[in-house]
Amino acid sequence: MPADIRMRNTASTKRHVMHVTTQVPELQTWIAGRRSAGDRIALVPTMGYFHDGHLALIDEARRQAGKVVVSSFVNPLQFGPGEDLDQYPRDDERDRQLAEDRGVDLLFRPSVAIMYPPGSEIHVVPGAAGADWEGTFRPGHFEGVLTVVAKLFHLVAPDVACFGQKDIQQATLVRQMVRDLDWNVDIVVVPTVREPDGLALSSRNVYLSESERRQALGLSGALAEAHRAWRAGERTAAGVKARMQSHLDAVGRLEIEYIAVVDPARFQPVAAVDDETVVAVAGRVGRTRLIDNIVLSRGLG
Ligand code: PAF
Repeated sequence: MPADIRMRNTASTKRHVMHVTTQVPELQTWIAGRRSAGDRIALVPTMGYFHDGHLALIDEARRQAGKVVVSSFVNPLQFGPGEDLDQYPRDDERDRQLAEDRGVDLLFRPSVAIMYPPGSEIHVVPGAAGADWEGTFRPGHFEGVLTVVAKLFHLVAPDVACFGQKDIQQATLVRQMVRDLDWNVDIVVVPTVREPDGLALSSRNVYLSESERRQALGLSGALAEAHRAWRAGERTAAGVKARMQSHLDAVGRLEIEYIAVVDPARFQPVAAVDDETVVAVAGRVGRTRLIDNIVLSRGLG
């Protein structure tokens, strides 16, 4: 084989090498190197156990910046007593491979002791937008989320950070934190990735049996019903909720915790709905708690 063809083959098969670290000094040395090279840095904070929703966040991060950092940390601070911290699915080796194949530049996987050394006490407390809905059913959850996101923002100092729309109340609170604490980071919210039948991807879907998975479709089905009501001209929150409720009653076997019809910026209830109104729903199927939402004019997407 001629030498120039051999060289081209070698170049085209050169694999992307991802850095993986559990250590803050190593992370920060790498970040400093990228910054001095003039790179823009995107952060994708995750709790690992990657699915296509995470990969969509990584792809968006890649569109936003030259270097992509993904953090993978199951954050104990955002789990309440009796929640699924110990069962939360983990597969570090599979995650490493998926991240590398997706072109992630650095995977940061700190331990609990590194993120919360003994004596750590200061937390970030959400305002009114975190009080209801997830805030009611998961007391302390958003304090845990904002605290770990604040720490990650300090450690990585990203130019941009990507969050999933599936956790839309979380995304609203992160935006508020960035605004209120004068953080110079753009927050990009990436649409929810769904199974072909509408089920929102979630790491917790692995908990569902086949029949529970069918019942879980009640959530996306109710949201699709809200979207149909909107398209048919319904403009009241009460009307949208009533349409969802009759869908849920027909499906049955879903223990609904809330249906929220709220404005996207403050996550407060609205009486009249418009294009940007968020409809969010949470419920339990067996022992699994699931959440989902739409922006009314966009539907399931
Ligand atoms: O959305 C999540 O996976 C988590 O809440 C986050 C943002 C990574 C913080 O632990």
